[in-house]
Amino acid sequence: MGQYFDNAKLSSNMQKYDVIIKNCKLTLFLDNGVFSKSKLDFGTRFLLETIPLDSISGDILDVGCGYGPIGLFLAKMTDSNVDMCDVNKRALHLSLIASKFNKLKNVNIFESNCYSSVPTEKKYDVIITNPPIRAGKKIVYEIVMNAKNYLKEHGKLFLVIRKEQGAKSMISDLEKIYNVSILEKSKGFFIISCNFD
Ligand SMILES: C[S@@+](CC[C@H](N)C(=O)[O-])C[C@H]1O[C@@H](n2cnc3c(N)ncnc32)[C@H](O)[C@@H]1O
Repeated sequence: MGQYFDNAKLSSNMQKYDVIIKNCKLTLFLDNGVFSKSKLDFGTRFLLETIPLDSISGDILDVGCGYGPIGLFLAKMTDSNVDMCDVNKRALHLSLIASKFNKLKNVNIFESNCYSSVPTEKKYDVIITNPPIRAGKKIVYEIVMNAKNYLKEHGKLFLVIRKEQGAKSMISDLEKIYNVSILEKSKGFFIISCNFD
């Protein structure tokens, strides 16, 4: 199946896109060859509208940031330091443009295959992802299961997954290593929080 990062030869058609999430106005830049290229994904919006913003601070990692809605929203709405990574160079470029347009100085955007570019000693308060289902189960599991090695002791992993994408079996697998809470469910989408407490 095609991956979003097989996009080097795709023509560019970059579009400015204003979006409001929880009273936060964010300008994003969309283009061919990136996930949800014409509008904000329902699952991404649902994730951002559900997570408890009051309890989010410190160091955040957005894995598979795409054109940046999750990391840039959190950079704007919290006083956190936000790292954002992806394998898709075009998506990283769009995230960078949007971070500058929105004048967000608390973001660090870099290329990484899952955690390959994250130093092993780096630990986060929050790791958050709308995982790349199209990349396959191995990559998705690498992102969500290996998050434990990059979280601080009281850190949390937040993710969105759909029922039809295997939410129930993923929850069972997550429960083998984390305390798992389902924060919300709607239209087959699950918002999941994982921690070690
Ligand atoms: C479902 S999209 C979410 C994009 C963005 N966070 C959003 O919510 O719109 C998943 C993202 O993961 C990226 N991705 C795929 N394989 C990856 C990998 N091995 N490591 C990091 N990111 C990956 C894709 O390029 C894509 O941008």
